[in-house]
Amino acid sequence: MERISVAEARRAEAVGRQAELNGWVRTRRDSKSGFSFVELNDGTTLANLQIICDAELANYDSEIRRLSPGCSIRVRGTIKESGGKGQSTEVQAEDVHVYGWADPEQYPLQKKRHSFEKLREWAHLRPRSNTFGAIARVRNSICRSIHDYFLEQDFLYVHTPIITASDCEGAGEMFKVTTLDLEMLAKKSTELDYKFDFFDRPAYLTVSGQLEAEIFATALGKVYTFGPTFRAENSNTSRHLAEFWMVEPEVAFAELPEDMDLAEGLIKRIFADVLNRCGEDMQFFNDRIDDTVLATLTSIAESDFERLSYTEAIALLEKADRKFEYPPQWGVDLQAEHERYLTEEAIGRPVILFDYPSTIKPFYMYVNDDEKTVRAMDVLVPKVGEIIGGSQREHRLDVLERRMREQNLDPDDYWWYLDLRRYGTVPHAGFGLGLERIVQFTTGMGNIRDVIPFPRTPGNAEF
Ligand code: 4AD
Ligand code: MG
Repeated sequence: MERISVAEARRAEAVGRQAELNGWVRTRRDSKSGFSFVELNDGTTLANLQIICDAELANYDSEIRRLSPGCSIRVRGTIKESGGKGQSTEVQAEDVHVYGWADPEQYPLQKKRHSFEKLREWAHLRPRSNTFGAIARVRNSICRSIHDYFLEQDFLYVHTPIITASDCEGAGEMFKVTTLDLEMLAKKSTELDYKFDFFDRPAYLTVSGQLEAEIFATALGKVYTFGPTFRAENSNTSRHLAEFWMVEPEVAFAELPEDMDLAEGLIKRIFADVLNRCGEDMQFFNDRIDDTVLATLTSIAESDFERLSYTEAIALLEKADRKFEYPPQWGVDLQAEHERYLTEEAIGRPVILFDYPSTIKPFYMYVNDDEKTVRAMDVLVPKVGEIIGGSQREHRLDVLERRMREQNLDPDDYWWYLDLRRYGTVPHAGFGLGLERIVQFTTGMGNIRDVIPFPRTPGNAEF
């Protein structure tokens, strides 16, 4: 007998087929006239498949009438047209096998709805809930769009290292990687000698694959890297994770306007694909989480992003009829409240801010002729704020060395990065899109911890 998924079995074309399905019971209802309805889910869709189990089945009394949420079963039967609302098909069971029971006295995910906070404590079970199943499918669609978007434009996918010796963002928010005996060190507090450490030098988990992506872009043209990145910032917010995924394209012979076009195109492509492929899941987010997500994604996919210089943004904030906790001031980084005002109120759609003061941005950004600003760009969206950070890179050796010294970095530590400017330097640009931030925006989920399977935040690494 052919094995098919719940998604396939729910399509009208499946009517008449004999098939085998495997999955987990969501609910069981017994009718008075001697049969039971079992709702089966296998993760391929949000919706369940209704299984009709007649009392004549051999194990009807011994097993089927004991099925409860979470039990795993195999069903063999015939797919029929259904009169029930919300479904066009159902299965008339001919054989039901129970793989595993889930004690209803103990299984945490009974019918009752749990808070997202509670579900975080059950990260091993929450993918079985409607919301987390839908998030996993939308996240998957977004990853697929990212690869499709770049590969269709002839980008090369490169893998940059997770363990690194350099701090790309210069913010010192790195996790150290070591094989030194920390307990010994803690007890003896002797001087640290990295000669005894695995890499003969301090090593860290990467905060960004950008510097290594630049190595490949300045040899192969258009590349992107996509992988986990780590930040040891002690931020307990709804938008920060200690481990998150970032996609980072890097393009040789490109300047800032092209970089912005690439970023805007990526976001629109992601939204268009999600609306196309994940209609049912997106309807669920719109009904249950945030009733604006469908309209927002549709309008963003079709309209142009506003482009505004940092200086213009500060002017807008200064004349805003509004009291900010942190008064806006040229030369100071924007706070979340400023970003939200710009995207949600002043402009009402995504904004690309560019040309930031050099003092608040990392060493690698191209210095403008005014000597005060750098060719940085951030893409801001309503509610979530910054989802992309990028820039044109400084490709002039002397300027780059000067910027490093200004930021107290030793150019000798970055000799290989400077070599890219010594030998055949070219203008180039790139950006980083935080995967979880875009999943958060797409689904309307309020907390970033709920859009990554296993969130790492200060104090949390159980699973
Ligand atoms: O703005 P960031 O720090 O930029 C970079 O790392 C550049 N090297 C990227 C590049 O040009 N190749 O980070 C990029 C994006 C942010 O816009 C945000 O979406 C996400 O990464 N991000 C985080 N997401 C979750 N938790 C955190 N702690 C994040 N920090 C940054
Ligand atoms: Mg940033």
